[in-house]
Amino acid sequence: MSTNFDSDPVFPERNIYPIRWDFTDSLAWKLYTRSKREQWDEESLNWERLKEVASGLERKQKLAICYWWALLSTFDNAAPVFAYALVKGQEMHINKSYEALITMVTCDECRHNLLCGRSIQCLLPGFPLDFKPQNDFEEKVRRNVLWTWYNGSRYWNAYKEAYNKYPFDVLLTSFMMGEAAATTVFTEMSKNAKIEPFPEAFRNVAKDETRHYAFTHILMQDGLEKMSEERKWLVTKQIRAGFVFLSLITYKPPKDFWRLPQDFERIHFELEAVARDAGLGVPTLEEKEKAWREAVLRVGAAVGKYGVKMPEIPELGISGEEVSEVSEQDVIPVF
Ligand SMILES: [Fe+2]
Ligand SMILES: [Fe+2]
Repeated sequence: MSTNFDSDPVFPERNIYPIRWDFTDSLAWKLYTRSKREQWDEESLNWERLKEVASGLERKQKLAICYWWALLSTFDNAAPVFAYALVKGQEMHINKSYEALITMVTCDECRHNLLCGRSIQCLLPGFPLDFKPQNDFEEKVRRNVLWTWYNGSRYWNAYKEAYNKYPFDVLLTSFMMGEAAATTVFTEMSKNAKIEPFPEAFRNVAKDETRHYAFTHILMQDGLEKMSEERKWLVTKQIRAGFVFLSLITYKPPKDFWRLPQDFERIHFELEAVARDAGLGVPTLEEKEKAWREAVLRVGAAVGKYGVKMPEIPELGISGEEVSEVSEQDVIPVF
């Protein structure tokens, strides 16, 4: 086949070429600069101190703390989520500033996940995959984590599928609820945690999540002004999906979406109580409800400006648009 070099090449659709640099989007570029300035190193946290503290903890306390970190890792296993968004976004030719920001979020989320792993490594190395339960309760702890991860795998498949169904802006604004909740939860935990280096770690994570939340604001301002009513309704639905998906760690195991063993909740609350007493800083149910109410109000105020309605959240006594049962097709948000 002969190529006509006299005319410009015709680029394939949905491809990362050609490249355009646009530096006019000052808000997004400012946030990108801030992301680089606020980077931190999870390796240089005081892990030696945690190992010292661990030697004075009971096995059940160590297990409960590892359980919580392993559960958190489900949501903070988000580097691939954003890496995928980077690929898909570039193929759709999103702004260069968004590409830069998504790259930074990918790096942040990788660090959050490593933080989960490092914490576990200091307490019960190999948990949960190489953990040898010593009794029925310990076996159930391990099982709770594995089933949570199994639901994570359902989420991952649904997430990849979602790119064939939803426009990019709807997909990314769905992260808003997750980031808002994460900001509140980690800020609270940084104040309540007693074991070094967790207060510092939570403070740093909260700082990252605050930037992620700010990013969803920029995206929304850009996207929602042009959004049709139908797309706005999708955002409403995604806000509800965000609550359902993250409730496992930030509230209580929800009924929608999650497929969990029957006694999951009993084991879960027992472990949370042990981890809290040991000094991890896990919020109580009342504190979690308060944090969610604040997050919902914040998100509601933000999206309300663009005519997006909030979903009903009966669990928190919040009225709004009724969103029928959330399934894996609807679940997108991550930390
Ligand atoms: Fe995040
Ligand atoms: Fe995160």
